[in-house]
This record gives sequence, structure tokens and C-alpha cells, in this order.
Amino acid sequence: MTSSIGSIGSTAIVTGAGRGFGRAIATALSATGAHVVGVARDASALNELRDELGDTFTPVAADAADPAIAGRLLDEYSPRTLVLCAGAAPRMAPLHEQTWESFSQNWNMDVAQAFHWTRYALRRPLAPGSTVIAMSSGAAVKGSPLSGGYAGAKATVRFITGYAAAESQRAGLGIDFVSVLPQLTPATELGAKAVAAYAERQGVDVETFLASSGPALSAEQVGKSVLQIADGDHGEHLAYLLTASGLVALD
Ligand SMILES: NC(=O)c1ccc[n+]([C@@H]2O[C@H](COP(=O)([O-])OP(=O)(O)OC[C@H]3O[C@@H](n4cnc5c(N)ncnc54)[C@H](OP(=O)(O)O)[C@@H]3O)[C@@H](O)[C@H]2O)c1
Repeated sequence: MTSSIGSIGSTAIVTGAGRGFGRAIATALSATGAHVVGVARDASALNELRDELGDTFTPVAADAADPAIAGRLLDEYSPRTLVLCAGAAPRMAPLHEQTWESFSQNWNMDVAQAFHWTRYALRRPLAPGSTVIAMSSGAAVKGSPLSGGYAGAKATVRFITGYAAAESQRAGLGIDFVSVLPQLTPATELGAKAVAAYAERQGVDVETFLASSGPALSAEQVGKSVLQIADGDHGEHLAYLLTASGLVALD
């Protein structure tokens, strides 16, 4: 598939662009010729990416869960593609070793981000033909007993995206809302921590744990799959599981 600026749109916003999946998604979108606005809190990681991608990448050091940031950036850039990829790394510990603060961190970050950006995308609204892609997780289906409120928060991200798709359709806005549920992978900082915790719980080393879970998803594959969705090359589905074999429609 050859993507082009025509189908992706001239401007994309990617939250969590500093590292991991978000960085790979920003890189993939940038390769289509799109102007990519990347959001993360660490300015140095974003500046490094700008050095790599050039002036068509605009770094914005900010908290993506802040509603004022969502409103300001959607007004300023009117993106045709919005990818909500930023996410808090959950504290890896069993339920009884969590505090309410640690249990709820993905609600205060991931769910708050999905709520504020999605709400503003509908109210503004974004232009017809725009696509909003939210990063949920395979954990939203299977649960994740060592990561506190993470799985429930990611299930809620998927619900929010589905509710928004229905509202877009009711109002004839022509905005696509899609959620992506990647499988756990050691390819990123967040994923590597989770893999290490599950391996330890099973009493095996990380290599043995990974050998039993099939081929690992890479950040580049996530970038490619998100591009496929942003390109409109994904059918009419609202949610996709994402493994090393690619996207599988869920609903
Ligand atoms: N890796 C996996 O196995 C996996 C599986 C399923 C789903 N996911 C989801 O995929 C997404 C990306 O994960 P990843 O594995 O790429 O994680 P990662 O390597 O830890 O990267 C997370 C990115 O999000 C940014 N971020 C975190 N909190 C932020 C905030 N409040 N405001 C702005 N940016 C923020 C981080 O930058 P700063 O810290 O500088 O802000 C970083 O750029 C997450 O939503 C995650 O839950 C990951």
C-alpha cells in the first residue's frame, strides 16, 4: 500500500510521540508527507524526533490529559488525523499491592485524554473525512491482573471511541473514530516493564515468557497499521486487535 498526503490529510497530531508506538506512528505519518504535531511531556525526546524528521514535525511539550491542550491544539492545527497514543506506564503489582492512586493512574491519564480530545473533536467539530484513532490495549479484552486499573481504563477508551463514532454518525459529521488494541510487546518501555512483571510472576525469564507468546509486535508494525487506518484502508470497523500478524477487526 502506498500512502500519500491526500488520504492522510495535510496535518496529523500524535500524542505520545516521544518514544515507543507514538514515535513510530509519527514517523510513519511523516513519511507520507504530512505535517505531524507530536505531543509528550519530555521536550528532549520530541526535539530528537524533530532532528530526525525535519521541520515538518512540530514538537509540543505538554500534558495530553489536559483539556486546555486538547482544545488549543485542535483549534490551531485542525488535524485530519488525530492519534491518541500517549499512555501512563502502569505500576506493575498485584491488586493488594496497589494504592488507589496507582490503580487509578491510567484513568487520570489515558481515559481523561480520550474523553477530552474526543469530546472536543465532536463539539468543534473536526472536518468531515477526519479520523481519530485511540490506543486501547489487548488487555481491554483479556484483563491485566498485574497492572491495577489499566485494563479497565483501556476498555473505557474503546467505549469512548465507540460512543463518539455513533454520535458522529447521528450528526452526519463524517468523522471516523477507531480504537486499536495492540497485544503486549516488549518493544517499548511500557511493554517491556509489563512483560518483565508477567515473566517474574510465572517464575520464568523474559525470553522463556516471550517464546510462549508468539512473535512480538514491533513499534514499526504499529506505525504501519495506524497508517492503514488513517488512510481509510480498514473497512467500517470501530475496533481492531493488533498482533504481529496485523489488524483483526473486533466490531
Ligand atoms: N507496549 C505495549 O505492549 C502496549 C500494548 C497495548 C497498548 N499499549 C498502549 O500504547 C500506547 C503507547 O504505549 P508505548 O508502549 O509506546 O509506551 P511508552 O514507550 O511508555 O511511550 C508512551 C509515550 O506517551 C507519553 N506520555 C505519557 N504520559 C503522557 C502525558 N500525560 N502527556 C503527554 N504524553 C504522555 C510519553 O512521553 P512523556 O513521558 O515524555 O510524556 C511517551 O512518549 C499507550 O497508550 C499504551 O497503553 C501499549
